[in-house]
Amino acid sequence: MKVALGCDHGGFDVISNVVKYLETKGIDCDYVGTFSNDSCDYPDFAKLVCEKVASNEADYGILICGTGIGMSIVANKIKGIRCAHVNDAFSAEFTRRHNDTNVIALGARIATASEIVNYVDIFLNTEFEGGRHANRVNKITEIENKYFK
Ligand code: RB5
Repeated sequence: MKVALGCDHGGFDVISNVVKYLETKGIDCDYVGTFSNDSCDYPDFAKLVCEKVASNEADYGILICGTGIGMSIVANKIKGIRCAHVNDAFSAEFTRRHNDTNVIALGARIATASEIVNYVDIFLNTEFEGGRHANRVNKITEIENKYFK
């Protein structure tokens, strides 16, 4: 499995915990930045990560900013991305089971580093259920195809 990861300054102190954890699990991590605590713009890093997922260069994307909200808004503007804003374990599990999301956006000012690592772990280890949920995801794709060029 290959995972692309990115954050802004709001997530910078947390994301190395995620990368280190995933690497201990043998997951190939492609970290796109940011590379310091200096203030930066979350759209730049969300875009880099999501382009890798949308082009199948990465299987999943992990985004961390202060709240996770800005990153999730950017991610869902990119065709082929279904991003969930997640700050609890239940959502981390059910967004994979029901929404087949390929990107998760987390808030480093909401959850602790160990909670964020746990949510990412749940997200990456949960399968999509398909069935009636596949019909619903297909409807999302139909809407995306109608409104996204
Ligand atoms: C940066 O201050 C903050 O706005 C950003 O990390 C994120 O929370 C945006 O949604």
